Amino acid sequence: MARAMKVAIVDDEADMRASISQWLALSGFETETYPSAEDALKGIGADFSGVVVSDIKMPGMDGMAFLKKLMSLDSGLPVIMITGHGDVPMAVEAMRVGAFDFLEKPFNPDRMTELAKKATNARRMTLDSRALRKELSDGSTIMSKLVGTSPAMERLREDILDLGQADSHVLIDGETGTGKTLVAHALHAVGPRASKKFVSVSCAAWSEDQLSAKLFGPGEDGAIPLVEEARGGTLLLEDIEALSQGLQARLLTFINDQGLPPETRIIAIRNQQAQDLTLEQSLRPDLFYRLGAMTIVLPPLRARGEDILQLFTRLSEQFSEEYGCDAPQVTAQEAAQLLQAPWPGNVRQLVNIAERAVLQNRRGTGSIASLLMADNEASGPAMTTEGKPLKEYVEAFERMLIDNTMRRHKGSIVAVMEELCLPRRTLNEKMAKYNLQRSDYV
Ligand SMILES: Nc1ncnc2c1ncn2[C@@H]1O[C@H](COP(=O)(O)OP(=O)(O)O)[C@@H](O)[C@H]1O
Ligand SMILES: [Mg+2]
Repeated sequence: MARAMKVAIVDDEADMRASISQWLALSGFETETYPSAEDALKGIGADFSGVVVSDIKMPGMDGMAFLKKLMSLDSGLPVIMITGHGDVPMAVEAMRVGAFDFLEKPFNPDRMTELAKKATNARRMTLDSRALRKELSDGSTIMSKLVGTSPAMERLREDILDLGQADSHVLIDGETGTGKTLVAHALHAVGPRASKKFVSVSCAAWSEDQLSAKLFGPGEDGAIPLVEEARGGTLLLEDIEALSQGLQARLLTFINDQGLPPETRIIAIRNQQAQDLTLEQSLRPDLFYRLGAMTIVLPPLRARGEDILQLFTRLSEQFSEEYGCDAPQVTAQEAAQLLQAPWPGNVRQLVNIAERAVLQNRRGTGSIASLLMADNEASGPAMTTEGKPLKEYVEAFERMLIDNTMRRHKGSIVAVMEELCLPRRTLNEKMAKYNLQRSDYV
């Protein structure tokens, strides 16, 4: 979502304020003006959705003090300073304190527009990434991202809420793409450490020396060792099976030196497809015992039944919104194929297929079946799917049909009854059975 960006103009000279404001308004900016820094501080705080243009020479609080104050409120706020002609030392000082850029009087209006554009773009990016970070640290948002109502998913939700409150270390196991990283974030976000740091590193991505320096220091250019950075929060170790014997010993010492409950919580993720060895075989027993006291095992997608269709529907809706086109309609045959595919890449593969299906649909070519086929050829010989009872396919398909039809008719029960030729009572019963709520579609 593009947000509207404002330009706040601060200058004690009324003529100057008016002409800058007029010029920027003509270039399409929304402006607001303030006659003094003191006044401006009443309207501008952290997360201000815009940028600031300020004169340096003002009575009362001058531009430099104003800049320092703004930087202490929000160091990511772009502030453009207007300096006197030839006042190089002042310009240098402003940049040192954190100004975005400066304009020398008398300035070229085009240069002002150009700078305002650059600054508002930078601001938009900063605010977007702040919003994302906030969203990821908000437990309820992250829980609502977990799609699926299969018994395995319901159990997973309970486990996350329970273990999220606990302090002991956690081991997450499961095939690639099953949601291990997502669950690690969720465990942090729903618990008492949510406001503390979440720091992660892959044990497979670095050499032993690099990883050692990253985790325990001394880091390059005085970077804080990750075990320090994560203090009080969560340290996520991805690909724990790749941790060398030497580092396993250091990690164990670190764990043992922490009091009880541990100050820093460790979540270890095992990448199941990396090796044939069990984790018990690749980790020293004492470390395995510490990390694996609580374990979450994520089920492969092929064992989650109707979740597959729910995920496909939800994901293709998200992508079609992103790409501004219609979501593909799934036929009965395609639904059966989605349910029967082996999904070696699990949810990650499904995300990928949903995106490609939306793009295909936008171009008006291709089918979901051809995407599945191409994908399975690319991933080598097809794995055999665990057989499922016919009833499960039928129910999953029925649920998806009602879900899609309700969505299309924006929750109009009458329209859905008509289209699916169902009496009201049957429709109500089925919606209750599949846990579909009319209010979700209105
Ligand atoms: N239950 C789920 N509901 C919705 N999206 C999911 C779910 N599980 C995983 N995903 C998505 O699938 C992708 C892979 O998940 P990820 O956590 O990276 O898997 P892993 O770490 O096990 O390889 C991510 O885009 C993630 O957001
Ligand atoms: Mg991962």
